[in-house]
Amino acid sequence: MIVDSHAHYDDEKFDEDRAEVMKRIHKQGVVRVVNPSSDLESVEKCIQLADDYDFIYTAVGLHPHEAKSFSLGTVDMLRETARHRKVVAIGEVGLDYHYDLSPRNVQKECLAAHIQLAKELSLPLIIHDREAHQDILDIIRSEKAYTVGGVFHCFTGSVEMARQVLDMGFYISLGGAVTFKNARRPVDVAKYVPGDRLLIETDSPYMAPVPYRGKRNDSGYLTEVISRLSSIRKTDQDLLARQTAINADRLFGLDL
Ligand code: NI
Repeated sequence: MIVDSHAHYDDEKFDEDRAEVMKRIHKQGVVRVVNPSSDLESVEKCIQLADDYDFIYTAVGLHPHEAKSFSLGTVDMLRETARHRKVVAIGEVGLDYHYDLSPRNVQKECLAAHIQLAKELSLPLIIHDREAHQDILDIIRSEKAYTVGGVFHCFTGSVEMARQVLDMGFYISLGGAVTFKNARRPVDVAKYVPGDRLLIETDSPYMAPVPYRGKRNDSGYLTEVISRLSSIRKTDQDLLARQTAINADRLFGLDL
């Protein structure tokens, strides 16, 4: 029983064999997947995926890369789309100062507007934070995002940041990075996060775990992440899979 809390099966890298991959991962024990959108075009694709597959859920929002295409009309459209019964969160949203594909002030405004929408709809947030730790924490506090909570996906912060994020009620999601040879921060964080606040994810098609690093990732490879996490946390693999599944179900209200 595995729940992948973050994957992008709407990505064009799955265009050739999406149906086969879906069938295979379900057979491999992946019982639920949250597949957040990233841009306006992907919102429709994600909804379609959630309609096509029972075990796929989705979230709506604009990735910080796409913040430059954000407008007030976007909020109206997302509000409407979020009424779909399989939309379980607002995301993925956040700040990305690594690529800086949208101006930082625009990214911040876009994030703040998504937080307001999440609060209006009482939906949790799926947060993308790349090299923007302090600004994200500041916006979460100023916009009171902790009233809806959510998850920091592919968490890359320190243990100290994890402490602040957990204190505000957020979950922390870890993926392929914990298996990388020189991984230190994610390993420290993996030891630190309490069992009832940890999620696992692929972020597929990206972030494939060792020994598949660099290949197209899918939820079938989560067994590598589970194996690594359970050895870091000195816990049983089945237990870790079950606990993280229960956590994702609780946060996103899945399987109801
Ligand atoms: Ni993602």
